Amino acid sequence: MKLFTVGPVACYPEVLETMGMQMVSHRSKEYTKIHYETVEQLQRFLETENSIYLFSSTGTGFMEASVLNCVRKKMLVCVNGSFGQRFAEVGVANGREVVRITTELGEPVHPEMIEQALAAAPDIEAVAITHNETSTGLINDLPKLTEVCREHGKLVFVDGVSSMGGTELKVDEWGIDICFSSSQKCFGVPPGIGIGSVSKRVLDISKEMTNKGWYFDLMVWEKNHAGGKGTPMTSTISQIAGLNTALTMVDEMGGKYKYFDLYKRRNTAIREGIKKHGMDTYPHKGYESPTVSCIAAPEGMSGPDVYKAMRGKDFELAQGYGALKEQTFRIGNMGWIPDEYISEMLEALGEVVA
Ligand SMILES: Cc1ncc(COP(=O)(O)O)c(C=O)c1O
Repeated sequence: MKLFTVGPVACYPEVLETMGMQMVSHRSKEYTKIHYETVEQLQRFLETENSIYLFSSTGTGFMEASVLNCVRKKMLVCVNGSFGQRFAEVGVANGREVVRITTELGEPVHPEMIEQALAAAPDIEAVAITHNETSTGLINDLPKLTEVCREHGKLVFVDGVSSMGGTELKVDEWGIDICFSSSQKCFGVPPGIGIGSVSKRVLDISKEMTNKGWYFDLMVWEKNHAGGKGTPMTSTISQIAGLNTALTMVDEMGGKYKYFDLYKRRNTAIREGIKKHGMDTYPHKGYESPTVSCIAAPEGMSGPDVYKAMRGKDFELAQGYGALKEQTFRIGNMGWIPDEYISEMLEALGEVVA
């Protein structure tokens, strides 16, 4: 099966080879070297001096950590799809008051919406933004949104699960306090690591916070990170070694901008290809995701029809998500995708929708 999924995505063969390594202790000097090298690679990739933690969870662990460590009472969550909705649910599940900005599906969040919400409730402590909403294939204009949050002095949490690695994310310049992702998306590594950067401001707040549990207590993570131990508990050693290999490959190909170019080329080929077959992307024009194309199903077929027919041709795309399940299907361009798979997949799609 040739994968055009939206996560977990196909992994780079080099990553899988690395992950076949025999285990070492997570306290050994061999692991410690891999850990801190990976942290340094990520700091360069994200252009940040913030601490980077590698949670033994998926990215959602960072949603929980953001709420538990930083929000005493009230947070604002921008919801333009299922994953923004999840962030809001994590806030509510932890007893916080959650103010929502909810857009129509396929529509972006605009800075004025945040401005308005913050003016109406100045006691909001933090703003959560989904950079790339995987469910609708939409990317928000993140630097413009974080700018408003910064002007109001609010903490900024960014869900970069399906953007980190595939497009620009400048943590320090854009003023992001917690920026997180998962290993199984743009880096082309199996699931199992929550990758996140955490600002000094977050740590200062976390220090004073009570009732934040232990597993996601960022003070515990910082103590181990700064103390040279990497992670407080057993690290997901194979995945972290795989991530190290993926980031080394990015360096060898000429750095992150070359990697972003690769994603852009794939994404453009997919978008042009579906147009030739008479289809179009779902989100508002100009806000289409560079990593996931969410496509309106053609006349006479549902999204699941297209998905199933493509499986019959040996291509695993992704079904539409949540409320968009029937009307759309999705094509991811993350992880390991040899160039020729794209033209083969588009040809098969043409046959399916003909
Ligand atoms: C934008 C976004 N946020 C959060 C998640 C949840 O990530 P995980 O399942 O790795 O915790 C996903 C997963 O697809 C996602 O696409």
